[in-house]
Amino acid sequence: MVGILRWRRRDGTTLTPRMSTQRVFSGIQPSGDPHLGNLLGAIQNYVRYQHGHDAVYCIVDLHALTTPKDPDELRANTLRMTNLLMAAGLDPERCILFAQSHVPEHAQLGWLMETTVSFGELSRMTQFKDKADRSEFISASLFTYPALQAADILLYDTNFVPVGDDQRQHLELSRDAAQRFNSRFGETFVVPEHVIPEIAARVMDLQRPNDKMSKTAAAENGLIYVLEDLKSIEKKFKRAVTDSDDEVRLDWENKPGVSNLLEILSAVTGTDPHELAGNYTQYGALKVDTAEAVVELVRPIQERFAELNADPAETMRILRTGAEKASAIASVVYDRARDAIGLLGPE
Ligand code: TYM
Repeated sequence: MVGILRWRRRDGTTLTPRMSTQRVFSGIQPSGDPHLGNLLGAIQNYVRYQHGHDAVYCIVDLHALTTPKDPDELRANTLRMTNLLMAAGLDPERCILFAQSHVPEHAQLGWLMETTVSFGELSRMTQFKDKADRSEFISASLFTYPALQAADILLYDTNFVPVGDDQRQHLELSRDAAQRFNSRFGETFVVPEHVIPEIAARVMDLQRPNDKMSKTAAAENGLIYVLEDLKSIEKKFKRAVTDSDDEVRLDWENKPGVSNLLEILSAVTGTDPHELAGNYTQYGALKVDTAEAVVELVRPIQERFAELNADPAETMRILRTGAEKASAIASVVYDRARDAIGLLGPE
């Protein structure tokens, strides 16, 4: 379960801080507008966890740089992602919302994490292999990406990390890194747990339901953007690939297209996907209802986004305030790691 943090004082005695509220941390890349998989698999959980938890959410602009980005687009996308997260329900009064590059300890601890994880571990990361296969220029940072991700999480004494299923391997590496560091240098980091939702942890491409929905999808029709035109969303659901036997049931192995629609509808309505399957005798109605549910989910998000996006100065103010709050936590944890590993502090 969740690691218990003990601080070691310089005289060798230990102190266990009281942590009454569980800390939740997650990150999302500002690499274009988010899709339905990001919303159902991750963002909706960010919104849930800001209640009753000490929640910290980071727009990971440094991670976005691991593949080539246009500077103006990156700046614009960082603001858009901030606004989108708020439009989806994140309240900067309830959670800390900030940009990764505004808190330099991420890059600093990232380096310490690079010294903690091995070349072999990084070589086994399936996301690296997938992205490297598709890239002409494979940056060194694409390879060391999970070390920075471990730093993101460990900097906040994080207990839980809500993510989609594709982040499982990175999260396991973060746990291993924390444990290895702790066993070499004394208890320094909380060992984090991931929280992967039961439903919609892996929203699939509507045209290729064996592949996860992703911005690098082969066909535009397979991908639904949260900010997409509502008519276009309806059309894409109508054209979603199913199969030829017209039996509605949750069966990922034999009916991935139908199962994907059922899980999407389930994630939006909160009804069990098996129960939903019982309501349908043909695919057409399932597609129409799923499209309608998604449209009703994103409509208010789109409206709110348009309002927020009209005031970039306010978005910047929110990010600055978020970074101040994040720094107050991150600087303490970074100093602890720096002292433990043997770097001289500047004080
Ligand atoms: P990113 O930006 O690719 O995705 C953000 C979140 O969306 C989830 N997700 C999905 N969930 C369900 N179905 C899908 N098809 C789907 N596609 C994406 C992802 O699992 C993720 O939770 N490496 C991370 C960013 C990161 C991070 C962190 C996450 C950096 N540091 C620290 C957690 C903690 C990433 O690229 O996510």
